[in-house]
Amino acid sequence: MQNVKTRYFLAVGFMLCIVGIVACQPYALKNTAAAEKRISLPAPEKTGGKTVLEALWLRKSTRTFSEQPVTMQNLSNLLWAAWGINRAEGGYRTVPTGMNKKDAELYVALDGGVWRYNAASNELELALDLPDVRARLGGAPITLLYAATAGNEFSGLHVGSMYQSAALYCAAAGIGNVVKRDRSDALSGILALPAGYKIFIIQLVGMPK
Ligand SMILES: Cc1cc2nc3c(=O)[nH]c(=O)nc-3n(C[C@H](O)[C@H](O)[C@H](O)COP(=O)(O)O)c2cc1C
Repeated sequence: MQNVKTRYFLAVGFMLCIVGIVACQPYALKNTAAAEKRISLPAPEKTGGKTVLEALWLRKSTRTFSEQPVTMQNLSNLLWAAWGINRAEGGYRTVPTGMNKKDAELYVALDGGVWRYNAASNELELALDLPDVRARLGGAPITLLYAATAGNEFSGLHVGSMYQSAALYCAAAGIGNVVKRDRSDALSGILALPAGYKIFIIQLVGMPK
């Protein structure tokens, strides 16, 4: 019996170590990983960080970023904050959309290409297999690209909600960010978007210098 218990604790301990190792990995998804086309993200965390009021007091634009990497866990939390599902039944999101259309997409430029955030599966799907487009977007370690229906009068409001959720998560987690209209069309014609969508704005993210 003692033996079974020991094995059980060893197995659970091993699994927790693996989960911890994955979550603490830097965001870097090099081209070797890009060959996989899909990357599972760690589950978004439900606790931690600062209070909403503390985050609001800390929110600000950061324009210079250090080499210190953002972890996969932080990246997962960030994407979830911006465009994640917080009520599985109905697939409702962290941000509201007019008539619940949810007609927005969130992309993330990393060093291994540009990935679409699939909130339902909590995965990154390779959207642009082009090594390192980050310089074209302003050179931050991570760039979020907010796409929405060009013809929806609410789209600007939707992406505004998204980038503010991401900014508040950044403030709560000690991560830097700046929203930019500049260069938001840098990947137009290269990054394939759903029909009728366009990139409205980008958000540069990284650890502050
Ligand atoms: C819709 C929008 C577009 C922006 N575009 C740019 C931009 O193109 N370049 C830039 O350097 N900052 C841009 N910013 C950041 C603003 O300059 C910044 O939010 C403002 O100076 C206030 O500073 P704070 O965010 O620290 O409060 C943009 C902000 C918003 C909300």
